[in-house]
Amino acid sequence: MAPLLPEEIAPDPLRVLAAWIDEARATSQPQANAMTLATAAADGRPSARMVFVRGWGAGGIDWLTDASSRKAREIAVRPEAAGVFYWAGLARQARVEGPVRLLPDDQVAAYFARRRPGTRLAARAWRQGERLGSRADLHRRLAAVRSEADPGGVPEGWIGQRLEPRAIEFWQEDPDGLHDRLLAVRGASAWTVERLAP
Ligand SMILES: Cc1cc2nc3c(=O)[nH]c(=O)nc-3n(C[C@H](O)[C@H](O)[C@H](O)COP(=O)(O)O)c2cc1C
Repeated sequence: MAPLLPEEIAPDPLRVLAAWIDEARATSQPQANAMTLATAAADGRPSARMVFVRGWGAGGIDWLTDASSRKAREIAVRPEAAGVFYWAGLARQARVEGPVRLLPDDQVAAYFARRRPGTRLAARAWRQGERLGSRADLHRRLAAVRSEADPGGVPEGWIGQRLEPRAIEFWQEDPDGLHDRLLAVRGASAWTVERLAP
Protein backbone atom coordinates (compact mmCIF):
# COMPACT_ATOMS: atom_id res chain seq x y z
CA MET A 1 0.00 0.00 0.00
CA ALA A 2 1.33 3.45 -0.88
CA PRO A 3 2.53 5.56 2.07
CA LEU A 4 0.15 8.27 3.30
CA LEU A 5 1.12 11.83 2.51
CA PRO A 6 -0.10 14.89 4.47
CA GLU A 7 -0.58 16.89 1.28
CA GLU A 8 -3.00 14.27 -0.05
CA ILE A 9 -5.13 14.38 3.11
CA ALA A 10 -5.04 18.11 3.92
CA PRO A 11 -7.44 19.40 1.23
CA ASP A 12 -10.33 17.22 2.48
CA PRO A 13 -9.74 14.64 5.26
CA LEU A 14 -13.46 13.72 5.33
CA ARG A 15 -13.25 12.75 1.68
CA VAL A 16 -10.23 10.56 2.44
CA LEU A 17 -12.10 8.91 5.33
CA ALA A 18 -15.08 8.28 3.05
CA ALA A 19 -12.73 6.78 0.45
CA TRP A 20 -11.28 4.46 3.11
CA ILE A 21 -14.76 3.27 4.12
CA ASP A 22 -15.70 2.82 0.46
CA GLU A 23 -12.50 0.87 -0.19
CA ALA A 24 -13.17 -1.37 2.85
CA ARG A 25 -16.64 -2.12 1.46
CA ALA A 26 -15.39 -2.62 -2.08
CA THR A 27 -12.79 -5.13 -0.85
CA SER A 28 -15.39 -6.93 1.34
CA GLN A 29 -13.78 -6.23 4.70
CA PRO A 30 -15.97 -7.68 7.47
CA GLN A 31 -18.32 -5.04 8.95
CA ALA A 32 -16.61 -2.41 6.81
CA ASN A 33 -18.97 0.33 8.02
CA ALA A 34 -18.86 -0.58 11.73
CA MET A 35 -17.37 1.97 14.13
CA THR A 36 -16.62 1.82 17.83
CA LEU A 37 -18.39 4.83 19.32
CA ALA A 38 -17.18 6.25 22.62
CA THR A 39 -19.19 8.66 24.74
CA ALA A 40 -18.82 9.98 28.27
CA ALA A 41 -21.29 10.41 31.09
CA ALA A 42 -21.68 13.74 32.88
CA ASP A 43 -19.19 12.55 35.51
CA GLY A 44 -16.63 11.80 32.80
CA ARG A 45 -16.96 8.01 32.86
CA PRO A 46 -16.47 6.69 29.33
CA SER A 47 -18.38 3.94 27.56
CA ALA A 48 -17.96 2.43 24.10
CA ARG A 49 -19.94 0.22 21.73
CA MET A 50 -20.18 -0.59 18.03
CA VAL A 51 -22.55 1.15 15.63
CA PHE A 52 -23.12 0.69 11.93
CA VAL A 53 -22.37 3.93 10.18
CA ARG A 54 -25.16 4.74 7.70
CA GLY A 55 -23.68 7.80 6.05
CA TRP A 56 -20.17 9.15 5.56
CA GLY A 57 -19.83 12.26 3.52
CA ALA A 58 -18.83 15.88 3.66
CA GLY A 59 -21.10 16.51 6.67
CA GLY A 60 -19.78 13.82 8.97
CA ILE A 61 -20.40 10.29 10.21
CA ASP A 62 -24.04 9.23 10.72
CA TRP A 63 -25.67 6.38 12.66
CA LEU A 64 -29.09 5.41 13.96
CA THR A 65 -29.96 4.55 17.51
CA ASP A 66 -32.64 4.63 20.18
CA ALA A 67 -33.01 7.89 22.09
CA SER A 68 -33.40 5.89 25.30
CA SER A 69 -30.02 4.14 24.92
CA ARG A 70 -27.07 4.96 27.12
CA LYS A 71 -25.10 6.46 24.23
CA ALA A 72 -27.99 8.75 23.24
CA ARG A 73 -28.61 9.84 26.82
CA GLU A 74 -24.92 10.60 27.31
CA ILE A 75 -24.70 12.52 24.06
CA ALA A 76 -27.81 14.52 25.00
CA VAL A 77 -25.93 15.75 28.09
CA ARG A 78 -22.45 15.97 26.53
CA PRO A 79 -22.80 16.26 22.75
CA GLU A 80 -19.29 15.00 22.02
CA ALA A 81 -18.04 11.61 20.90
CA ALA A 82 -15.07 9.71 19.51
CA GLY A 83 -15.13 6.88 17.01
CA VAL A 84 -12.71 4.24 15.75
CA PHE A 85 -12.83 2.26 12.52
CA TYR A 86 -10.51 -0.72 12.07
CA TRP A 87 -10.10 -2.75 8.91
CA ALA A 88 -7.81 -5.66 9.73
CA GLY A 89 -7.54 -6.81 6.11
CA LEU A 90 -6.30 -3.39 5.04
CA ALA A 91 -4.19 -2.83 8.19
CA ARG A 92 -5.83 0.56 8.63
CA GLN A 93 -7.38 2.44 11.50
CA ALA A 94 -9.23 5.76 11.40
CA ARG A 95 -10.17 7.78 14.48
CA VAL A 96 -12.67 10.63 14.62
CA GLU A 97 -13.51 13.10 17.38
CA GLY A 98 -15.98 15.93 17.50
CA PRO A 99 -19.39 17.31 18.38
CA VAL A 100 -22.53 15.26 17.74
CA ARG A 101 -25.79 16.61 16.35
CA LEU A 102 -29.22 15.10 15.77
CA LEU A 103 -30.04 14.32 12.14
CA PRO A 104 -33.23 15.76 10.63
CA ASP A 105 -36.28 13.46 10.51
CA ASP A 106 -36.22 13.00 6.73
CA GLN A 107 -32.61 11.79 6.86
CA VAL A 108 -33.43 9.37 9.69
CA ALA A 109 -36.40 8.05 7.68
CA ALA A 110 -34.21 7.51 4.61
CA TYR A 111 -31.60 5.57 6.62
CA PHE A 112 -34.24 3.60 8.53
CA ALA A 113 -35.95 2.49 5.32
CA ARG A 114 -32.70 0.80 4.27
CA ARG A 115 -32.50 -1.39 7.39
CA ARG A 116 -33.35 -5.09 7.06
CA PRO A 117 -37.05 -5.89 7.75
CA GLY A 118 -36.18 -7.88 10.90
CA THR A 119 -34.33 -5.00 12.51
CA ARG A 120 -37.06 -2.55 11.51
CA LEU A 121 -39.59 -4.78 13.27
CA ALA A 122 -37.39 -5.13 16.36
CA ALA A 123 -37.14 -1.36 16.62
CA ARG A 124 -40.92 -1.27 17.08
CA ALA A 125 -40.96 -4.11 19.61
CA TRP A 126 -38.79 -2.71 22.39
CA ARG A 127 -36.68 0.20 23.54
CA GLN A 128 -32.95 -0.39 23.49
CA GLY A 129 -31.56 -0.99 26.96
CA GLU A 130 -34.87 -1.95 28.60
CA ARG A 131 -34.52 -4.54 31.38
CA LEU A 132 -36.01 -7.88 30.29
CA GLY A 133 -37.02 -10.84 32.42
CA SER A 134 -36.07 -13.46 29.86
CA ARG A 135 -35.54 -14.14 26.16
CA ALA A 136 -39.20 -15.13 25.99
CA ASP A 137 -40.05 -11.43 26.48
CA LEU A 138 -38.38 -10.70 23.15
CA HIS A 139 -40.42 -13.41 21.38
CA ARG A 140 -43.65 -12.16 22.93
CA ARG A 141 -43.03 -8.57 21.97
CA LEU A 142 -41.95 -9.44 18.46
CA ALA A 143 -45.08 -11.56 17.98
CA ALA A 144 -47.19 -8.65 19.24
CA VAL A 145 -45.80 -6.15 16.73
CA ARG A 146 -45.96 -8.75 13.94
CA SER A 147 -49.67 -9.12 14.53
CA GLU A 148 -50.20 -5.37 14.15
CA ALA A 149 -50.24 -3.48 10.88
CA ASP A 150 -46.91 -1.77 10.23
CA PRO A 151 -47.55 1.95 10.66
CA GLY A 152 -44.51 2.60 8.43
CA GLY A 153 -41.94 5.28 8.99
CA VAL A 154 -39.53 5.50 11.88
CA PRO A 155 -40.61 3.95 15.19
CA GLU A 156 -40.99 6.34 18.07
CA GLY A 157 -37.74 7.05 19.83
CA TRP A 158 -35.40 6.17 16.95
CA ILE A 159 -33.01 8.96 16.13
CA GLY A 160 -30.07 9.65 13.87
CA GLN A 161 -26.88 11.23 15.10
CA ARG A 162 -23.98 12.80 13.23
CA LEU A 163 -20.42 13.21 14.49
CA GLU A 164 -18.88 16.25 12.82
CA PRO A 165 -15.15 15.55 13.08
CA ARG A 166 -12.89 18.27 14.31
CA ALA A 167 -10.03 15.78 14.25
CA ILE A 168 -9.41 12.68 12.12
CA GLU A 169 -6.41 10.42 12.54
CA PHE A 170 -5.38 8.04 9.76
CA TRP A 171 -3.18 5.08 10.69
CA GLN A 172 -1.79 2.68 8.15
CA GLU A 173 0.50 -0.24 8.89
CA ASP A 174 3.96 -0.54 7.42
CA PRO A 175 5.53 -4.01 7.36
CA ASP A 176 8.79 -2.60 8.79
CA GLY A 177 7.04 -0.80 11.65
CA LEU A 178 7.26 2.65 10.06
CA HIS A 179 3.50 3.03 10.30
CA ASP A 180 1.90 6.14 8.86
CA ARG A 181 0.00 8.17 11.42
CA LEU A 182 -1.44 11.43 10.18
CA LEU A 183 -3.57 13.71 12.33
CA ALA A 184 -5.89 16.15 10.57
CA VAL A 185 -7.31 18.99 12.70
CA ARG A 186 -10.03 21.29 11.44
CA GLY A 187 -9.14 25.00 11.52
CA ALA A 188 -11.37 28.02 10.92
CA SER A 189 -10.97 27.82 7.15
CA ALA A 190 -8.81 24.77 6.42
CA TRP A 191 -7.49 21.54 7.90
CA THR A 192 -3.93 21.13 9.10
CA VAL A 193 -2.30 17.73 8.90
CA GLU A 194 0.67 16.59 10.99
CA ARG A 195 2.62 13.36 11.00
CA LEU A 196 2.83 11.67 14.41
CA ALA A 197 5.21 8.98 15.59
CA PRO A 198 3.39 5.67 15.47
C1 LIG B 1 -21.37 -4.64 14.50
C2 LIG B 1 -22.40 -3.98 15.38
C3 LIG B 1 -23.15 -2.94 14.87
C4 LIG B 1 -24.10 -2.30 15.68
N1 LIG B 1 -24.80 -1.25 15.15
C5 LIG B 1 -25.62 -0.55 15.96
C6 LIG B 1 -26.27 0.62 15.47
O1 LIG B 1 -26.10 1.02 14.30
N2 LIG B 1 -27.05 1.30 16.31
C7 LIG B 1 -27.25 0.91 17.61
O2 LIG B 1 -27.99 1.58 18.33
N3 LIG B 1 -26.67 -0.19 18.11
C8 LIG B 1 -25.85 -0.92 17.32
N4 LIG B 1 -25.23 -2.04 17.82
C9 LIG B 1 -25.45 -2.41 19.23
C10 LIG B 1 -24.56 -1.54 20.10
O3 LIG B 1 -23.21 -1.98 20.03
C11 LIG B 1 -25.01 -1.50 21.58
O4 LIG B 1 -25.11 -2.80 22.10
C12 LIG B 1 -26.35 -0.79 21.73
O5 LIG B 1 -26.46 0.31 20.85
C13 LIG B 1 -26.56 -0.31 23.16
O6 LIG B 1 -25.49 0.55 23.52
P1 LIG B 1 -25.61 1.66 24.66
O7 LIG B 1 -26.45 1.07 25.76
O8 LIG B 1 -24.20 1.92 25.10
O9 LIG B 1 -26.26 2.86 24.07
C14 LIG B 1 -24.30 -2.73 17.02
C15 LIG B 1 -23.54 -3.79 17.52
C16 LIG B 1 -22.62 -4.41 16.71
C17 LIG B 1 -21.81 -5.54 17.30
